[in-house]
Amino acid sequence: MKTISIINLKGGVAKTLTADNMAHVLAVFHNKRVLLVDNDKQGNTSKAFGVHSYDEKSLSDVLTARRLDVREVIKKTRFENIDVLPANMTLIRANMEVLMDTTRPQQTRLRAALDPVAGQYDFCIIDNAPDINISTINALVASDDVIIPIKIDKYAFDGLAELKEQIEDTRDDLNPRLRLAGCLITCFIRADAEKQGEAWLRSRPEYPVFDTRIRYSEKVTESTFSEMPIAEYSRRSGTAMDYIAFVREYLNRGKD
Ligand SMILES: Nc1ncnc2c1ncn2[C@@H]1O[C@H](COP(=O)(O)OP(=O)(O)OP(=O)(O)O)[C@@H](O)[C@H]1O
Ligand SMILES: [Mg+2]
Repeated sequence: MKTISIINLKGGVAKTLTADNMAHVLAVFHNKRVLLVDNDKQGNTSKAFGVHSYDEKSLSDVLTARRLDVREVIKKTRFENIDVLPANMTLIRANMEVLMDTTRPQQTRLRAALDPVAGQYDFCIIDNAPDINISTINALVASDDVIIPIKIDKYAFDGLAELKEQIEDTRDDLNPRLRLAGCLITCFIRADAEKQGEAWLRSRPEYPVFDTRIRYSEKVTESTFSEMPIAEYSRRSGTAMDYIAFVREYLNRGKD
């Protein structure tokens, strides 16, 4: 199982859209078995796949309970190859509980919990909150690759250096496998300012950038209301074609 964290300290940059659609493209177009981990109290990924709930166990229990089998928490979805480990607002409290409980390791809990199901999936994709907290660190410790979605605007690069530092610290201290697979330009509109922002990003060797850019499309809002991945809702929209191309690029890069 290859584990990928989708992360950016900034909100609203298409982390969730990227995680969910990457999972969908891997599952449906490449026939891969995918576990999607919702690591955000907002529970957007859980809602998108119809598994958001307060009545059943969630990521909070995975991070706080002792000897919990993660299979009790993972939910099936209407897609045969996509399962979801859901989250909800209880993650706020769970994060505090993890921090207060110093009797066991705090940063390796997600990795340890996912270990027993690693043979059941080809990919695990973690949709993170726009934050660095103990559950984000757990995600980085559990991951092989990091993908940073970036929506180019005036503040697009805020927090990028801090995130890069966090990735490097995690790699040095806890997870030598971790690598920044690349930044992914999302919500792209062919405006001059966006092109300048993109040129700046592509000129910085410390931030690898995927060749594929994800174009903005009005179809995306409609697709989220319909709870459908974009390639299912509108296969011919620019955004769908770009997520399909992006996953192909990501898989090809891994072959190098
Ligand atoms: N390519 C696109 N075309 C049109 N709208 C988009 C596109 N990508 C993202 N959006 C919209 O931008 C908004 C933010 O996207 P999303 O929820 O994926 O971001 P996020 O980074 O996960 O946000 P948060 O930090 O709150 O978790 C959503 O309303 C989404 O539908
Ligand atoms: Mg999100």
